[in-house]
Amino acid sequence: MSIESSKRPVIALLASNWLSMLGVALATTAGFSWLFVLPMRVEGRMVNPYIGVLVVFVIPLVLLIGLILIPTGIVLQARRVRAGARILPSSGAAWRRLGIFFGLMSFVNLLIGSQATYRAVQYMDTQNFCGATCHVMTPEFTAWQHAPHSRVQCVECHIAPGAEGFLKAKMAGTEQLVEVVTDSYKRPIPSGLESNKLTNSAETCENCHARNRDIGTPVIIETKYKDDASNTPTSTVLTMMVGGANSGGIHGAHMGNGARIVYATADPKRQVIPWVEYTDASGVKRTYVSSDAKPAEVVKMPRFAMQCVDCHNRPAHSFDLADRAVDKAMSRGELPTDLPFFKKKAIELLGSAYQSNEDAAKQIPVKLTQFYKSSYADLYARNPRKVDAAGAMLADIYNRNNFPDLKVTWGTYPNNLGHMDSPGCFRCHDGNHATEDSKYVISNDCTVCHQTPAVDETSPAILKTLGIETRLLPPDSTSGSK
Ligand code: HEC
Ligand code: HEC
Ligand code: HEC
Ligand code: HEC
Ligand code: HEC
Repeated sequence: MSIESSKRPVIALLASNWLSMLGVALATTAGFSWLFVLPMRVEGRMVNPYIGVLVVFVIPLVLLIGLILIPTGIVLQARRVRAGARILPSSGAAWRRLGIFFGLMSFVNLLIGSQATYRAVQYMDTQNFCGATCHVMTPEFTAWQHAPHSRVQCVECHIAPGAEGFLKAKMAGTEQLVEVVTDSYKRPIPSGLESNKLTNSAETCENCHARNRDIGTPVIIETKYKDDASNTPTSTVLTMMVGGANSGGIHGAHMGNGARIVYATADPKRQVIPWVEYTDASGVKRTYVSSDAKPAEVVKMPRFAMQCVDCHNRPAHSFDLADRAVDKAMSRGELPTDLPFFKKKAIELLGSAYQSNEDAAKQIPVKLTQFYKSSYADLYARNPRKVDAAGAMLADIYNRNNFPDLKVTWGTYPNNLGHMDSPGCFRCHDGNHATEDSKYVISNDCTVCHQTPAVDETSPAILKTLGIETRLLPPDSTSGSK
């Protein structure tokens, strides 16, 4: 028997049973899908966890099923033929049938592959899907657009790369979807740390920011405005001892060179930390307990290993307190600095309660205009546009930080990077956390974290020395528009 003739029945067997044909369909689909994700692999853009799971699990699985179905179908069909149940098509007809089937499958695959699937996968991975499709995430989506990470996709901080991260995210996502559909989600929705569902920063932040990088001592300059008639500007200058693994400082102390900190929390928001355990690189341990802690309760508290997000908990969608938001906008020239009592009035308007975001957008500008019309009629008559623009901007600031329907308001989500607006560093560094023998205390010395060459000064000498004082002049203070 020639090879040629032994092949014929196989092709005929294959082309004449639906099981094998299904196998062929699955195998070609897997092949095409692979081709679609291939360019992303080559470009090294495999950050998309949805595509990750496709490549790792789904495609090989489909291919395997296809490859199992083809011979299974052939074997079953051969049995049926042997039992005399079927007449096989001629080999020409079998090839033709197979050819048409292949062509059809490829066409369908191309269509589906290039359009629907790929687009859907891409779409699911964008901030539009995360932030805009789902109304409950409006606060985060809004704040994210104004943050330094506005070019970093939601999933890069919220989903660990790889298949496991994907599965976890899908499980949590399904739960959330049910809550949204049944309208049973919490308002405000719990912070990431509070719900304890945030992916560990080692798998997110540290993909972009090296833990051991030496950051040195950045200088932070903050401009504030007093609530007097002329909105007097003052500056605070801080030199932050951020450091790194080798140079110590803030980063070095908590995360550098094998240092490890575990802490226990008394509340879900992790704002009260009565117990802290520090282990240095050589394994020496120190346990710090707050003087107000009750040992019996501390034992029962949940414990967490310290990570980037314990300090940087609002790197992407940070909400400001009213005072800070107004100061920032004034120093950037987004709000006027030369309207009498502007700062004072702005804080008053932002501090009032509004029914909804629409209500705030309507009322805030109207109230600001009323104030200047009645108290400074001449000034208002000369420059009504300035007041109108300021009113609109104030409403915008309110609506970026307040979402009445979701019960998100000033201070709902505390920022732990500091100690002025919320306890932050002082959750541990309050001078009140000591080892049992009182030999060690978690430091409350201002200078271990920063020098403060100027605090709320109107014209700090340090800025003159550094030659940067002019940068602090509000953009319109020299324009003489009064
Ligand atoms: C740079 C990293 C990063 C990016 C980018 C990011 N997030 Fe977050 N997100 C976090 C961290 C960290 C938390 C935990 C905040 C906390 O516990 O205080 C969080 C928490 C949340 C929460 C829980 C509620 C809250 O505010 O704490 C939601 C919802 C959320 N993020 C949605 C989004 C959406 C939607 C996007 C994209 C538009 C996004 N995030 C982009 C880091 C990020
Ligand atoms: C996909 C990469 C990526 C990820 C993931 C990422 N970052 Fe960033 N991060 C950046 C880039 C890029 C910048 C610089 C932005 C700029 O200067 O405009 C930045 C800036 C920062 C800054 C300085 C921001 C400022 O206020 O000037 C901090 C702090 C920071 N990231 C912390 C984090 C933390 C914490 C996480 C995890 C929750 C994280 N990043 C996740 C890319 C990333
Ligand atoms: C103990 C608190 C703490 C921890 C933990 C921490 N940081 Fe920071 N980090 C700071 C402080 C404080 C600054 C100073 C910047 C500031 O005050 O705005 C800073 C600054 C930074 C900056 C910005 C530097 C710049 O260019 O201005 C980046 C980026 C950063 N941290 C990333 C990380 C990453 C990534 C991790 C985790 C590996 C981490 N941090 C862990 C407190 C912390
Ligand atoms: C969960 C508790 C905790 C929080 C929150 C925390 N720290 Fe620490 N910090 C520690 C511990 C523990 C040590 C090491 C104490 C030791 O050496 O035994 C430490 C050490 C330090 C040191 C080195 C001190 C020295 O004496 O050299 C600096 C600087 C520092 N922290 C800054 C910060 C800053 C800035 C923040 C807030 C952004 C912060 N820490 C938040 C627990 C904390
Ligand atoms: C454990 C570290 C740590 C200690 C101790 C500490 N600070 Fe700070 N401080 C910070 C951090 C972090 C910030 C936030 C910097 C930023 O704005 O990004 C900050 C911010 C400030 C600011 C600016 C506040 C503002 O309005 O923005 C002042 C003023 C200040 N600290 C004063 C002090 C004084 C005074 C002490 C001593 C009693 C002290 N700090 C102790 C870490 C510390």
